[in-house]
Amino acid sequence: MENKKYKGKATEAIHAGETLSTFPTATQEHQAGKTGVPLLPPIYQNSTFQFQSASECASACIDEESGYIYTRWGNPTQKALEQKIAALEGAEAALATASGMGAISTALLTALADGGHVVAMENLYSATFQLLNEDLTQMGVETTFVDATDPNKIESAIRPDTKIIYLESPTNPLLKLVDLAACAEIAKEHNITTIIDNTFATPCGQQPIPLGIDIVLHSMTKYLSGNGAVIAGVIVGEKGFIDKAQKGALRNFGAVISPFNAWLTLLGIPTLPLRFEKHCENALRVAAYLEEHPAVAWVRYPGLPSHPQHALAEGQMNGFGGMISIELKGGRATGEQLVNRLQICTLAVSLGDVRTLVCHPASTTHLLVPIEVRQQTGITDGLVRFSIGLENVEDIIADLEQALGTLL
Ligand SMILES: Cc1ncc(COP(=O)(O)O)c(C=O)c1O
Repeated sequence: MENKKYKGKATEAIHAGETLSTFPTATQEHQAGKTGVPLLPPIYQNSTFQFQSASECASACIDEESGYIYTRWGNPTQKALEQKIAALEGAEAALATASGMGAISTALLTALADGGHVVAMENLYSATFQLLNEDLTQMGVETTFVDATDPNKIESAIRPDTKIIYLESPTNPLLKLVDLAACAEIAKEHNITTIIDNTFATPCGQQPIPLGIDIVLHSMTKYLSGNGAVIAGVIVGEKGFIDKAQKGALRNFGAVISPFNAWLTLLGIPTLPLRFEKHCENALRVAAYLEEHPAVAWVRYPGLPSHPQHALAEGQMNGFGGMISIELKGGRATGEQLVNRLQICTLAVSLGDVRTLVCHPASTTHLLVPIEVRQQTGITDGLVRFSIGLENVEDIIADLEQALGTLL
């Protein structure tokens, strides 16, 4: 099957990227009329590729587009995954990585190859915040963190040496949104690269590239694979940037995805559109239920009219996603009590799984973060984050009902 444009995400998620030319052995045999080809993309679980002569190997090294040499440089299973995700994001190219953090660090190292300043959203996934605030700062890269829900604050923080505007929308865990088209316009006026972590929204819930954003990142550990079995990431964008990242930071810092993890992710993506629809449907029902519960102080879900940026979510997103954050009235003790009492909602720090996962940052992911820092960044003691899964929504709500009931 050749790579072509499809009318809908469901078809794209199943068929896009799986061109015969991605799989060299299959192509040769198939063309010779000796065999059919595997219906599923094969897994090329090998570190290297053999050549018939030194000159063949040398020409492959010079013209890398023509073939595979060594899996850290590229592999057919990785490539099939990259082609599929590029199609889903409406982008020229993609580069799969060993983890979401592998994608984030590889993209930042590529865009900051000759230094520069970063303007970043102040509420970011904790490891991304640490990477910018500690690791890259130690390497001489300065970051100014701003409340990017107001695009004017981004513009005010831009300096002559600003190279990157780094965003998340919705953010983890507070589900704040950024006006992506407005940020892209500001960045273009100043010739700055925009990068967004689109993990929460997925390509089904939000397509930043048509809105003008340059680079999109995902932790494929989450919704894209959806199986809770892999750690993986991806960088999506313009071919020049992807080539630079592949031949430079990815290859030399080495955050390369294994063929097996690429293959497992490829198996997950075809059901993403269907899963995402159900995650959204279940999450909206659960969010509406939580909003009425007397033990809950507030609920953040972009699909609820009470979300401070609900209008932006409606204009910018194609689905509000499966992530909900709530503030419990009783603080840390009730947060701990809630996660201890839940039975179907499982205490685990990841998201995007078929199961409903719950996490209480103050007693888990942010336990070691000083309380004043937590409060500054809105990680309050009563904050609980849900990744709503694909169970029957009545069962999720019944589980919440029995556990929340004990807090009153
Ligand atoms: C929004 C977001 N980005 C990136 C990451 C990092 O992904 P990984 O764990 O695959 O490195 C996470 C992990 O939870 C995340 O929530």
